Amino acid sequence: MKLWGGRFKEAESKLMESFNSSLSFDKNLYKQDILGSIVHAKMLTKCGILNNKEGELIVKGLENILHDIETGILKIDGDYEDIHSFIETNLIKKIGDVGKKLHTARSRNDQVALDMKLYAREKAEEVISSLNKLNISLKDLGEKHKDVIMPGYTHLQRAQVITFKYHLSSYINMFKRDMKRIENAKDILNESPLGCCALAGTTYYIDREFTAKELGFKKPVDNFLDGVSDRDYLLELMSDFSIIMMHLSRLCEEIILWSSKEFSFIEIGDEFSTGSSIMPQKKNPDAAELIRGKTGRVYGNLISLLTTMKALPLAYNKDMQEDKEAFFDSVDTTLSCIKVMAEMLPTIKVKKENMKNAVKKGFLNATELADYLVLKGIPFRDAHGIVGRIVLYCEDKDKSIEELSLEELNQFGDYFDFSVYEYIDYDKALLRGIKKEMI
Ligand code: ARG
Repeated sequence: MKLWGGRFKEAESKLMESFNSSLSFDKNLYKQDILGSIVHAKMLTKCGILNNKEGELIVKGLENILHDIETGILKIDGDYEDIHSFIETNLIKKIGDVGKKLHTARSRNDQVALDMKLYAREKAEEVISSLNKLNISLKDLGEKHKDVIMPGYTHLQRAQVITFKYHLSSYINMFKRDMKRIENAKDILNESPLGCCALAGTTYYIDREFTAKELGFKKPVDNFLDGVSDRDYLLELMSDFSIIMMHLSRLCEEIILWSSKEFSFIEIGDEFSTGSSIMPQKKNPDAAELIRGKTGRVYGNLISLLTTMKALPLAYNKDMQEDKEAFFDSVDTTLSCIKVMAEMLPTIKVKKENMKNAVKKGFLNATELADYLVLKGIPFRDAHGIVGRIVLYCEDKDKSIEELSLEELNQFGDYFDFSVYEYIDYDKALLRGIKKEMI
């Protein structure tokens, strides 16, 4: 069941046949392939290359194949070379010899480039809409706990007080940037490769503007060779997916840390946790760990396709068939990770008191104390030194700054009055200056 064979004397080896076949994975593209073929047949009819009757028969035949696939009447398997051969062969089986005219002024090279672009565009939209849902989950979780304060960290050392809601809002911003990146990739890819044919166009006066418009592209690509051999759009999206996974993995890492007894800031719902086969007490954050782990394969797929594309001469080379499994796996993995995260977040229980207690330990108001001294006319660098000595004293006495008496504070210079306690209060500090933005 081949689309070629005329110039061959010997049959293809079985080994080569199965090595070469992409049907087991490019069957994902059946919808895009049929849609592209329908539009191609309409264009051939419009340009007088097919007569109306032929055009209609082909379009009907393709629509029937789509229906048969979607209802399970036609299974995509067998010893076909790829999805393109599968659909064309089945079309010919269905409507007879007229089906053999469909491939006029087309090659599998522009056909597969089109299918992948249509697929990539659709999946890019799915990723954007799932990121939108994830951002709603993050926002809801923040709103639900908007009075919760926690330590903000640098170097994983307690640094300054922040709100839990503000912490989550960092991730909302990351995912917003991810959506913009994907929109941008969608915009760049939005040119139709159909009509480039094998690499050098065709002697027919086909209408590439028509097919581009019908398929929702801005315009046809400018260059035939580039059109059939461009896989930038896959690399770009896979790199956007890698960045999304990197963002998710950072969130996962925090969720895992916060769920540990050492932090004990949150508890993930049972629905997204698992137990241990030996240790009865265990409740493990597997969902977050799996997302963190899957980041590796999304990075791997990107590097794998970058390497495949490296130094490929123009135009199409069979190496490019390797784009599919890598891209499909990256899309599926990224989509499922976003979805799991969006559904896990609402199950999280926040341990407000533990977060607050962590705020109280670690001198998270030391910067505020230095700011207080600045208000009293002390240059910041000197204030920094004074507070450093106060912190040392606190560590020695095992006290927090707010537990020091005025006498104790004034040992370090006669700057302090009662207003200091209000100034270094954790909640009140959040109402001052641009910190208000964190509320
Ligand atoms: N299965 C091929 C791919 O994925 C389709 C294009 C085949 N073109 C060719 N000239 N053999 O790239």
